Amino acid sequence: MVNNYDRIAANYDRLSRLVFGKAIVRAQQSLVPLLAPPARVLIVGGGTGWILEEIARVHPSGLAIDYVEISSNMQDLARKRDFKQNQVAFIHAAIEDYTAPTAYEVVMTPFLFDNFSRERAQLVFQKLNNMLENGGWWLFTDFHIDKGMNRFWQKALLRSMYVFFKNISHVEANELPDMQALFKTYNFRITAESFHFGRFIRSAAYRKSGDGGAAPTENKALVENDDR
Ligand SMILES: C[S@@+](CC[C@H](N)C(=O)[O-])C[C@H]1O[C@@H](n2cnc3c(N)ncnc32)[C@H](O)[C@@H]1O
Repeated sequence: MVNNYDRIAANYDRLSRLVFGKAIVRAQQSLVPLLAPPARVLIVGGGTGWILEEIARVHPSGLAIDYVEISSNMQDLARKRDFKQNQVAFIHAAIEDYTAPTAYEVVMTPFLFDNFSRERAQLVFQKLNNMLENGGWWLFTDFHIDKGMNRFWQKALLRSMYVFFKNISHVEANELPDMQALFKTYNFRITAESFHFGRFIRSAAYRKSGDGGAAPTENKALVENDDR
């Protein structure tokens, strides 16, 4: 199975912190305050589930979270997390095969799309877009390389990550899909953005066009910071 992190689940967080320090965590932390309970939330590719504890620290109740993870080992670790009074349904599936029971107000995809070929990224994007209600929020975090700039170290690091994860997790991608273009094509409006680890990591909150759907928060801002 492609893009499955079973073999590395037990060591994944340690490894990612070794390479990126706290940047992976901070990038996702920056989006958590944008959730506003009560809300139905879909998290795809949440890994070991530390994000559930981060969310519970800020919002200890009022969230109904569906946690879709392709790796059963990742999912087993996530189940043990303390997510307080939030309701969490763990779904062991590839997002490609998942049928949502209802539309979501928020979708979170932390470091999911960097695994995907361009074709799969497009397919999964369309699927998640259909699951998100009009006016809903997409909280997105992933690796990022500024277009038209000579970011040699970022390209080298990305290449070595792809070599490593191709071996361990059969990651299919060789390059980052152009997610900004996809959000633009589907008419999403960006309402918050932050950069981390020398702009190699980008977090963004996008709002789906259309009316309706409660805003998670009103204090949205475009943030240009980098906590490297
Ligand atoms: C790069 S890891 C990121 C983990 C976590 N979000 C973090 O930031 O620490 C990607 C995660 O996405 C999961 N994944 C990959 N493809 C998936 C798919 N098609 N459906 C659901 N989960 C998937 C992997 O099993 C893995 O846990």
